[in-house]
Parts: sequence; C-alpha cells; structure tokens
Amino acid sequence: MNETRPDALPILGIESSCDETAAAILDATGQIMAEAVFTQSAEHARFGGVVPEIAARAHLQRLEGMVRGVLDQAGLTPRDLGAVAATAGPGLIGGLIVGASLGKGLAMGAGIPFIGVNHLEAHALTARMPGLFETPPAYPFLLILVSGGHCQCVAVEGLGRYRRLGTTLDDAVGEAFDKAAKLLGLPWPGGAHLERLAASGDAKAVPLPRPLLRRPGCDFSFSGLKTAVAQAVGKGFRREDIAASFQAAVAAVLADRARNAAAMLPEATALVVAGGVAANQAVRAALADATPLPLLAPPLRLCGDNAVMVAWAGLERLRAGQHDAMALAPRPRWPLGELAPPA
Ligand code: KG4
Ligand code: ZN
Repeated sequence: MNETRPDALPILGIESSCDETAAAILDATGQIMAEAVFTQSAEHARFGGVVPEIAARAHLQRLEGMVRGVLDQAGLTPRDLGAVAATAGPGLIGGLIVGASLGKGLAMGAGIPFIGVNHLEAHALTARMPGLFETPPAYPFLLILVSGGHCQCVAVEGLGRYRRLGTTLDDAVGEAFDKAAKLLGLPWPGGAHLERLAASGDAKAVPLPRPLLRRPGCDFSFSGLKTAVAQAVGKGFRREDIAASFQAAVAAVLADRARNAAAMLPEATALVVAGGVAANQAVRAALADATPLPLLAPPLRLCGDNAVMVAWAGLERLRAGQHDAMALAPRPRWPLGELAPPA
C-alpha cells in the first residue's frame, strides 16, 4: 500500500460510455503522461449509427490492451498510481460495465481509490485542465455541450455543482448533423462531411426553420429541421446549398440558445464549448459572436470523447477528498444534477 496521498500520484482514466475506447494517465499536476483513443466508427458505419452490442464487444476487446499501453508509455505499473477513474454514466450500459469493472479491478488490485466519473462532468471540467487556457475559467461558467449523444447548456457553479439550463427536446445536435448528412447521401458519422459539402454551398439558398429561435430558455429541438432537410432534398435543391443552409440554421439556433443561457447566468465568466460538433467552424464562429463572454474551446481531441477528461475529473474529485465505493453501479442515465450515484 502506497503511503503517499492519492492525489499526489498519477491517475489513470478510462472512457467507454459510447463508441470511443480510451485510456489516459495524468500526473498529479494534471499534465498528460500518456493517452490513447480508439474511435469505433468504422465498426458502426455500415449500420448508420452506434450499435450497443458491437460497442460493448469492441470495448471488451480493446480496453485492457489500451490501459496496458498507456501504463507502458508512462513507464508505470498499476502500483505507481494514486487512483483509477472510469466513466460510470451516462452512456451505453455494456460499455460502462466494461470500463467500470476494469477500473475497479485495477484499483482493488493496487489497493487504491476508485472514482466513478459522470461523463458530462468530465466534459464540463476539461477546460480547467492546466495549460489549456491562459486563465482557466473561474466558477461559475457556462458549458454548451454539443455532441452526437448530448446537447445541453449547463451552469458549472463549482466542482459537483451543475445546473442544467436547457437540453434537447428530441435529437442531439450531432445526431441532427448525422441525419441531415445521411439525407444528403454522406457516410456516417456525417457532421464533418456535411461541413465540407457546405463550404461550396450558399447558406441563403434554402429556406429552413430555426427551431425555438427567440423563444425563452435554452432548450433545443432539431427534428423539424431534419424534416425540412428531407423536403428540400425532395424538391431538388442543390446538395451543397442544403448543407450550407442547414449548418447556418443550426449555428443560428445554437447562438440564440447560448445567448439565453448567458442571460440566465449573468455571473458567468466564460462560455465553454465541448463535444464533437465543436469542430464545426460555422458553429464556433456563431458561438463566439453570440455573447460577450470569452469562448473557450478545448483542442478537438479533448472536445470529443476521451479519457484525459475522465482522469482530470477524477483528479479534481480526489483533490476534494472524494472517491467511490467499489459497489458503485454504472448508470446509463445519470443527470448532472444527481451527483453521488447510489452505491
Ligand atoms: O463528442 P463526439 O465525438 O462523440 C459522441 O457524441 O459520441 O461527437 C460526435 C458527433 C457526431 O455526430 C459528428 O457528426 C459530429 O460530432 N461532428 C460534427 C463535426 N465533426 C464531428 N458535426 C458538425 N461539424 C463537424 N465538423
Ligand atoms: Zn461525450
């Protein structure tokens, strides 16, 4: 048993909640010692979306080797770690069980604490990692999470203190990009393909709705927009014009929602964006202009799903004297408002 405080030693992070298999090690200051991400999209592409059983099996096949890989890369054994953090929810239950079980087993074997991390909390805290921004955002700040599985505005008021200000009433924004891309005949996941197609299109050519624009609050809705894209395809508009118009509609809606979120949290010090859709330049530009707040966008590999953010959230919780029971059960649904998962 190591006598050093667990937060003075390196921490291992594991992510397996959706279709990224990832492992990473941070040192006690939060510097990245090793990281690895495997994106499963090729395995799901022919089904046009993430297939839970395929995802679970892929995590099972790869995760242990990836953990061994990052330990080797960092020149460590499990006994050199201070703690193990693994995503415990929300997400697909098969992957969560694979990651959390491996994490618990490693922690138990090394006699060190285990931390079951909320995936949304990990996205929320990433911007506070040392070295990412000249000044890390002070609490409270706003998070706009725009990924394939999640779409929400969150007031980040402190470690463990999150208030969801708005969420999607139907599809996540990345899902909307993927569905629009599919209607345009692009491969899955289609967000980045759609952005490339949009570059040669006219964003004003196709009249598309801007769902919930100028309504109070910061909920989102994208299903009407998807239907409108299907109709525009049927009417024979140019594909690049549909792509550009769709992207402009989404960017306008996200900016409008971010503006309302900022009004709902007037003390906010920054607007942090996370999730795969943060890669989209039109979305970024719209968010940057939406509010007077500085827009902080972590580097893309830390915006999408990764294990660095899980290790960092674990380290923050460890520093606050927290860890979890080995009996902790993964939670496929785990809203940010509900902090401690039942043991
Ligand atoms: O956060 P993320 O990597 O993972 C999951 O949510 O699982 O987000 C993936 C989503 C996909 O829907 C993808 O189409 C979208 O982010 N995405 C984009 C772009 N790059 C990725 N959407 C719009 N423009 C992009 N450049
Ligand atoms: Zn995510």
